[in-house]
Amino acid sequence: MSALLVDETSAAPLSALMREGSRIQHTAAENSSFMEELLAGRVNEQGYADYLLRLRKVYVALESVGRDLAATDPVAAAVHDAALERLAAIDADLAVWAPDGGAVESAAADAYVARIEATRAWGGLYAAHHYTRYLGDLSGGQAIGRLLDRFFELDGEGVAFYEFAEIPKPKPYKDGYRARLDALDLGPAEKIRIVEEVQVAFGLNQALFEELGANLDTYRR
Ligand code: HEM
Repeated sequence: MSALLVDETSAAPLSALMREGSRIQHTAAENSSFMEELLAGRVNEQGYADYLLRLRKVYVALESVGRDLAATDPVAAAVHDAALERLAAIDADLAVWAPDGGAVESAAADAYVARIEATRAWGGLYAAHHYTRYLGDLSGGQAIGRLLDRFFELDGEGVAFYEFAEIPKPKPYKDGYRARLDALDLGPAEKIRIVEEVQVAFGLNQALFEELGANLDTYRR
């Protein structure tokens, strides 16, 4: 990292660095074949259940590590909020999409979980993972929920994952979230490390999509 870049980084707000630093990966996630097919209504119930089963593993880790870290680490405490927790919503949705239960073997989910567990070393790393999932769920996730509802004529059944009962307005919530990130007292090297971990988190999501994308033939509807 050049001295100039470090200087620029120390001046920029962390939330802007996180967004800019993941812009390319965000586009790649949107353009993954699984997401494209899902949002075109061409993935069946089994495909969506397989996605939720992977997300379940990820959120179990995200939410248990988050509760532990927020008690001791100020950076984790700045982002942690029980109002965001998704595990109960995922379980409610799985009861709709996979009523007979289900389990998945997923190397991609296992690798993602291991990386989240490793963030116990420092709340900054945890914040990167928290941001990547929850700010996404509060953003593009809202449109994904509406599309699923339309394609499968769900009438709101099975899309609890996209509903934040305690956060009626995502926009002001996201503004407050970014303000809390930006108020953290972090040095340039710490900010750079967080942005790098956001990129890692996006890569782990991409790996989930690639794993699911390999099954698209069986998921066709
Ligand atoms: C097809 C899938 C996706 C669509 C259509 C989508 C769409 C969007 C949109 C429109 C925003 C901007 C919202 C705003 O300005 O407030 C956004 C933000 C975001 N998305 Fe996505 N997204 C998708 C997939 C993902 C994935 C897979 C992730 C990561 C797991 C993700 C993470 C984020 C994050 C972290 C933000 C917040 C950016 C920021 O303002 O800092 N998105 N998304």
